[in-house]
Amino acid sequence: MHSGAPIRALVFDAYGTLFDVHSISIACEAMFPGRGADISRLWRTKQLEYTWLRSLMDRYADFETITRDALVYACGALGLELAQSNALGLIESYRQLSAFSEVKDALAAMHSRKRAILSNGSPAMLNTLVEHAGMSRLFDAIISVDELKMFKPHPSVYGLATRYLGVSASEIGFVSSNFWDVSGASSFGFRTFWINRNNSQPDELGFEPVAVVRRLDELLPYLN
Ligand code: LAC
Repeated sequence: MHSGAPIRALVFDAYGTLFDVHSISIACEAMFPGRGADISRLWRTKQLEYTWLRSLMDRYADFETITRDALVYACGALGLELAQSNALGLIESYRQLSAFSEVKDALAAMHSRKRAILSNGSPAMLNTLVEHAGMSRLFDAIISVDELKMFKPHPSVYGLATRYLGVSASEIGFVSSNFWDVSGASSFGFRTFWINRNNSQPDELGFEPVAVVRRLDELLPYLN
């Protein structure tokens, strides 16, 4: 375990880390039988690409808009006709993605530290997501990139967490399942933990997390 200042706050990515973005594939499958998993995969890939492209282009649009645009792209690319009512229905379901099964208990067990979400999600999306999962009381702050009009992994976004929580970067343990996000957070100076749920390959961006675990509750021994 990394030595140095104690970890005083834990900051979590939302989509893919606490909440299962691919739980949406059930709703996709109901609308497009046999294609649910394909839609969900391409939808997520494009959603992330659009955050990076819009940041580089200096053409911010909020995450709900980007999520809708990525859904339209995914269905179009897969040759599926997306009716307006289906698009609205899927976006509504995206506000209620399932949390991974261990998340609520694991977050509760981390109560001795400040806990926050730092996410690309828009404030409305994040608040609905957290409320729907019954987790509102588990967080000291739910921080959206929206006030900066810039997405992860821009350094300014990670700076929001130090400001909201009143702790320095080296005192923050940052937890994400997205390796590119772990890289951005490490580059900023956070102590990072990678939740590698699916045995993914780490990116070659020059950063390594403090620890790699498969589930959120496996982090607990590293924090004590
Ligand atoms: C988030 C996405 C990137 O929650 O997973 O910020």
